[in-house]
Amino acid sequence: MDVLTEKIKLNAMGKYCKGEEYTKSYKVFLEKSQQHSRLGKNLRCYLPVAMEGVHITTDACRVLSIGSGDGEVDLKVLKVLKEVTKKRIFCRVIEPNEYSLNKYKTSIESLSPNDDMTFDINKPKTFQKYMTESLADQDQFDVVHFLHSIYYMDFEEALTHCYEKELGESGLIVCVFAADDIMFEAKQKLFGICQPNQSISQVVKQQGWKYQEYKDEYMLDVTEVMNDQSETGNLLLDFLTQTTNFRRSADHQMTKAILDVIDDLSIQKDGKLFCKKVDYYTFIFK
Ligand SMILES: C[S@@+](CC[C@H](N)C(=O)[O-])C[C@H]1O[C@@H](n2cnc3c(N)ncnc32)[C@H](O)[C@@H]1O
Repeated sequence: MDVLTEKIKLNAMGKYCKGEEYTKSYKVFLEKSQQHSRLGKNLRCYLPVAMEGVHITTDACRVLSIGSGDGEVDLKVLKVLKEVTKKRIFCRVIEPNEYSLNKYKTSIESLSPNDDMTFDINKPKTFQKYMTESLADQDQFDVVHFLHSIYYMDFEEALTHCYEKELGESGLIVCVFAADDIMFEAKQKLFGICQPNQSISQVVKQQGWKYQEYKDEYMLDVTEVMNDQSETGNLLLDFLTQTTNFRRSADHQMTKAILDVIDDLSIQKDGKLFCKKVDYYTFIFK
């Protein structure tokens, strides 16, 4: 795929993430998939082992969070990192959605001084913009994470930049993303995006980086997507297609094609319809 086409597709997906509509549909997706609780549990399980090789030489564990959302998962991850490293936490937040960023700011207000966490939250910004401003001589990070956010950028550019410019000597990149599932199939159909697991492991292998990968399979309840009158179903469809008001804005053929994909990939259980979700957890060690 040529670079320009790839960028146009990434921009189309990225545009969807800007507004409040996005956060509404993401919330429905989280309810129907329980992705957040799985993410929290899995990272609590994998992070302590992955952090064994990270030697922090300063008094703080420095974290770069890319596509941080509203901070709900970030705070869980930071608490695990604090427990594991026994250091205070410094976290820089890179998030382009203003609504999510404001929620992030509100959620950290409830932290107590004992939590010992400080944050660097700038104005809403994409990681692409951050990369152009990032200074070569700034302090580096012990952990850089992309939790379901790497879809909106060029994998190779983002990972290489982080490994070479942002990560300290023995740092860790954590990358969690969906592949081989309904999320990917819908994006593939609409945007022609290539499988993230293949391209990410290709980048990692080409670069000769040390890494470890885990896979988590679970179910997403898509029952309401089939009901065109359901507000919840339509919001979930928006999230799966990364398009606001997909049912109203897409042409009939495309809507049918997406619903067919969902139908083909789903199974019935207890009168409900479920699609398989697959998340990959890739840990890259410097
Ligand atoms: C699926 S959400 C994940 C949020 C959070 N990490 C979590 O696990 O709940 C993806 C996030 O990536 C952000 N995002 C979209 N495009 C981005 C970009 N170009 N640079 C950085 N973040 C981006 C979105 O605004 C959104 O908050």
